[in-house]
Amino acid sequence: MPDARPTPQPHWWRGAVIYEVYLRSFADGNGDGIGDLAGLRARLPYLAELGIDAIWFSPWFPSPMADAGYDVADYRDIAPVFGTLAEAEAVIEAAHAEQIRIIIDLVPNHCSSEHPWFVEALAAQPGAAARDLFWFRPGRGPDGDLPPNDWESIFGGPAWTRTSTVDGTPGEWYLHLFDPKQPDFNWSNPKVREEFEDILRFWFDRGVDGVRIDSAALLVKDPALADFDVTTEFAPGAHPYTDRDGVHDIYRGWRAVADAYPGDRALIGEIWLPDPERFTLYLRPDEMHSAFNFPFLESAWDAAALRAVIDSTIEVHARVGAPATWVLANHDVTRPVTRYGRADTSWSLTYRQHGAPVDLALGLRRARAAALLAAALPGGVYVYQGEELGLPEVEDIPDDQLQDPFWIRSGRTNRGRDGCRVPLPWSGQAPPFGFSPDGAAERPWLPQPAAWADRTAAAQQDEPDSVLNLYRAALAIRHAEPALGDGPLRWLPSADGVLAFSRPAAEPGGPGVTCVVNLSDVDVPVPANGGVLLSSAPLDGGTLPVDAACWLRTT
Ligand code: GLC
Ligand code: CA
Repeated sequence: MPDARPTPQPHWWRGAVIYEVYLRSFADGNGDGIGDLAGLRARLPYLAELGIDAIWFSPWFPSPMADAGYDVADYRDIAPVFGTLAEAEAVIEAAHAEQIRIIIDLVPNHCSSEHPWFVEALAAQPGAAARDLFWFRPGRGPDGDLPPNDWESIFGGPAWTRTSTVDGTPGEWYLHLFDPKQPDFNWSNPKVREEFEDILRFWFDRGVDGVRIDSAALLVKDPALADFDVTTEFAPGAHPYTDRDGVHDIYRGWRAVADAYPGDRALIGEIWLPDPERFTLYLRPDEMHSAFNFPFLESAWDAAALRAVIDSTIEVHARVGAPATWVLANHDVTRPVTRYGRADTSWSLTYRQHGAPVDLALGLRRARAAALLAAALPGGVYVYQGEELGLPEVEDIPDDQLQDPFWIRSGRTNRGRDGCRVPLPWSGQAPPFGFSPDGAAERPWLPQPAAWADRTAAAQQDEPDSVLNLYRAALAIRHAEPALGDGPLRWLPSADGVLAFSRPAAEPGGPGVTCVVNLSDVDVPVPANGGVLLSSAPLDGGTLPVDAACWLRTT
């Protein structure tokens, strides 16, 4: 078991640059068209050169892949399509040798319908202990052929599926907030708690430095399982399955497990909550260490909107002493180049604007500026693979190649998230663009656009103004500048539509950094400065162009 730890860095997660590897789309080592650990291992030098502090791996466990691995059949092993447990241990060790920390993605709300617990539960009788690990209920109506309540699955359709008894007659129903192949655990059963604390230990024992907690606010359900109207505005904690108060106790237990290990193991929540007060409850000192900042990601490309979300983020995190995070993309979200190139630049899970007209050159320009904004803000920053290549959303994947359960479950009305999951282009002039080895037997699991020839990592490598080199420079400066990462922010006076703030020196008299982002529709003068550190577009004659950002040495 690997136990070599990266150099201790207390509270590393407070200012870390965390890179999300969506494993099946990162790099394919064996030519089956699906990314894997061997492919990742060979590309570790690329990640080290990019300048990241940690990798967050999307779920890598054995899974029927009904939801790309978010349907876990065995939490203590690696999916054969990705490699072996020994390979994962070797990757952890190799990453640690590069001072890159490893975060795994744990899915506690539900498992796969092929998880042994669920298989056993299905085979058991109603009322059996095995069924109490999930939410089994009789149906309504005279024949029990109506679901136990009216809850809808997040992917569309009812949140309940009926089972069959051994003789083939219809039986009880079970709850799944996502796909029918993702049955929800019953977290009021202590066995579920014990199991997950043990799974945490399993991975911490293997050296992982942190855990991203999937769907973290959904675990606790109101056992009344009552119908509800989706338009209802619930009082805090009163929603039947989102953000119920009981969930905090679970994470206190997890924190105790993490704290028992040396080297600052971090818990990071995937928490989509509109109410910032409720959000920060998860970040109290005895719960999670940090959580994704989705309001920032959802914000339109608009100075006032961004400033409001930055202020509220900083304010609510300060109350609990937690570091903020700055997130522009992940494997569920329309890529920023596309979002920012639309007429309406706002975004939400239910407002994807798939196929709306997009100006990709404009989107790219703004995405470059947004990258400098995010990396200059106080706290941790996330990069989703391909963001550093300026990849757009792929919006023309043929219907019959879409894989996301959203597509089928929504009755083919929601094209889902495949467009941000297309395998990375590494090199060459045509698909698979080095994603799979030369002569690979299979094509990439989602088709890559031919136009990506000029977006490959190789094509961007030697081009000084490429997105890749902008990210490399930004992350290198971020590492070298003590004022960046965790710490205070001070707003500076600026023209309408311009965001300007300084990151004061960590030590009195030390160097500070100023960040200016021009979201107005006119070029603006670059403020007085002690030198330009970096800019997302050329600063012609001392002006910052529209939709550009720069980092300056604070005078
Ligand atoms: C999270 C994941 C998403 C997955 C869902 C169900 O939102 O990010 O990809 O489909 O949880 O596990
Ligand atoms: Ca492969």
